[in-house]
Amino acid sequence: MSQRRILVTAALPYANGHIHLGHLVEYIQTDIWVRFQKLRGHKCVFVCADDTHGTAIMIRARQEGRTEEEVIADMREAHIRDFAGFQVAFDNYGSTNSPENRQLCHEIWGKIRASGLVKESDVEQLYDPEAGTFLADRFVRGTCPKCSAENQPGDNCSKCGATYSPAELVNPKSTLSGATPEARKAPHLFIELEKLHGFLDQWTQSGDHLQSEVANYLKGHFLGDANSPEPKVLRDWDISRPAPYFGFEIPDCPGHYWYVWFDAPIGYMASTLDWCQRNGENFDSWWRPTGPQPAEIHHFIGKDITYFHTLFWPGMLHTAGFSLPEKVHIHGFLTVGGEKMSKSLGTFIMASTYLKHLDPTYLRYYYASKLGPRLDDIDMNLDELVAKVNSDLVGKVVNIASRSAKFVAETGLSTTYPDDGGLFAAAAARADTIAELYERCDYNNAMREVMLLADAANKYVDEKAPWTMRKDPSKAAEVRDVCTVALNLFRQLMIYLAPVLPRLAEQTGELLNSPIQSWDAVQQPLMGSSVSAFKHMLQRITPEQVQAMTEESKVPDETAAPAAPQWNDGPDALAAEPLTAECTIDDFVKVDLRVARIISAEDVPEANKLLKLKLSLGGDSQRQVFAGIKAAYKPEDLIGKLVIVVANLKPRQMKFGLSEGMICASGPGGKDVFLLAPDSGAVPGQRVH
Ligand code: MSP
Ligand code: ZN
Repeated sequence: MSQRRILVTAALPYANGHIHLGHLVEYIQTDIWVRFQKLRGHKCVFVCADDTHGTAIMIRARQEGRTEEEVIADMREAHIRDFAGFQVAFDNYGSTNSPENRQLCHEIWGKIRASGLVKESDVEQLYDPEAGTFLADRFVRGTCPKCSAENQPGDNCSKCGATYSPAELVNPKSTLSGATPEARKAPHLFIELEKLHGFLDQWTQSGDHLQSEVANYLKGHFLGDANSPEPKVLRDWDISRPAPYFGFEIPDCPGHYWYVWFDAPIGYMASTLDWCQRNGENFDSWWRPTGPQPAEIHHFIGKDITYFHTLFWPGMLHTAGFSLPEKVHIHGFLTVGGEKMSKSLGTFIMASTYLKHLDPTYLRYYYASKLGPRLDDIDMNLDELVAKVNSDLVGKVVNIASRSAKFVAETGLSTTYPDDGGLFAAAAARADTIAELYERCDYNNAMREVMLLADAANKYVDEKAPWTMRKDPSKAAEVRDVCTVALNLFRQLMIYLAPVLPRLAEQTGELLNSPIQSWDAVQQPLMGSSVSAFKHMLQRITPEQVQAMTEESKVPDETAAPAAPQWNDGPDALAAEPLTAECTIDDFVKVDLRVARIISAEDVPEANKLLKLKLSLGGDSQRQVFAGIKAAYKPEDLIGKLVIVVANLKPRQMKFGLSEGMICASGPGGKDVFLLAPDSGAVPGQRVH
């Protein structure tokens, strides 16, 4: 088998949000594929980056009173930490806001311009005169033009389902400033994708690069063919945005920026370039169809971003003379218990929350056992997660080692491989089949194959029962043989599972004093080698751990907040109250403490002690809170700070407005009031215990 050169990418996560279990479907799937290729001895490079540009980051930075660079630097740190926590091992993690990316954008843009694919035309968009920016649809709300429901988003009505353009809303308001937006025209640049129609037909329909359902979808919706009732025309792609916009300015069009989706996929190349520079590699040998052995490029993405990766991106690469992807692997979306992830049900689970409660090995195995080569959504059922991990990993796989290793810790393995009735050879013979399943991303069938082998190995151990045998001293040699067989069968399973369970594979290497480094090692049993003392490998999951995780993931639902005691909001808001009634533990656990970020703070001139704060509890969840801390803090010093807030305090109408929570502070009062601040790695919305 000759060595392949494989470049693998996973979609670049947006820098305006944290990694959650939905994202991890993709990053775990891709990481498994990469680890598999490396284990097979191929030269495989896995690159990713943060996707940093666009309106959402710009708005978030404004709201938090920070620069875009500060926002993306923090998020980058969090993303890297979350990925490491799940053993997703990138060879390079870049950023689309990098000099490498800017340079590649310039080069590709130059080629696209030179090919005559760019045209200019005016676009009318809503503009917020107060915030001084054009408004993406989701930043406009107003009354539905069909059913008159109030406060509806800019693109479709949540009451009657009507779809419309933001300009059609009755009484539209900008969510940024509350101002009434006005329609304004601005010139935009477009790429005429239709001019690439023939190329895209051929590339998407060749049968080699896309799953057949994707190829058919593109044909049916965008490309058409001879059987289509009328020819389909690809729409021009609006590729520029007028200032202000956080992104790269277009060199030959000052005051205009590339739309985020232009520079985002180029980020794959920029991250590769970054890696090449750090490792003395030649960039062209990875991204240009030159040289004796061009690299294969494999993109892994979710189905929501199919259009960008199967039409725009191949069109850009083709025009600029770079290599086209060998494959775009597209997966479905994560649902939990058959429904979309939900904040109020606690099924919108952040990566960092998961890691506080559960071992990443569980999720890696569970996703592997659910993932196939098609685009179906993946439904996570938390009871099934518990059952699968406990029965397969703990009950079948690790159980083989835990029932045999300790009996050979002193003697080591037998020096010749004993007769095992053909078990080792049978497992070795599955190597090509299982490899083929990994290659096709049919992990669920790969896991099924491996579990059948585990069943056979367990049957052997059950029948031989070395724990009984060793009570008879005359059977010492036989015990050693049985354990030699059991541990070699265990090692085969762990080689097959190594792409999914890197930590367990490493522990297996330590146990048997022989690191797992190649797929072919399944063919050769270990003989005569020493065995280390057996260390615990994997804990069973308990339903309580899972429940604690979902509890922590619940974002308080305002309307369902339990009644909480009123607080004294008068001039002595924070003055000590005489202790009166006792508070039971049951009362206390009702208090929902959350991390929040202060996104704005202003003085309330009519009040002696109060500042008016706006808090972000993650996502779109925001609160207004009045806090009696005027003597201790200047409003401008508070912006961007993390605090702890009582999130389920009953909202209270105060003289100056509605207060929707309370921030926690300590100290005697006056100037000496100290806000309780969680560490800077905390995430708004996160629960505090
Ligand atoms: N920034 C773009 C990708 C640019 S690639 C040049 C983006 N970012 S994302 O953060 O929204 O999503 C990153 C990846 O995670 C995407 O492939 C997306 O499909 C995937 N998923 C996000 N939520 C998901 C689920 N709930 N389930 C499965 N995959 C999901 O899109
Ligand atoms: Zn409506």
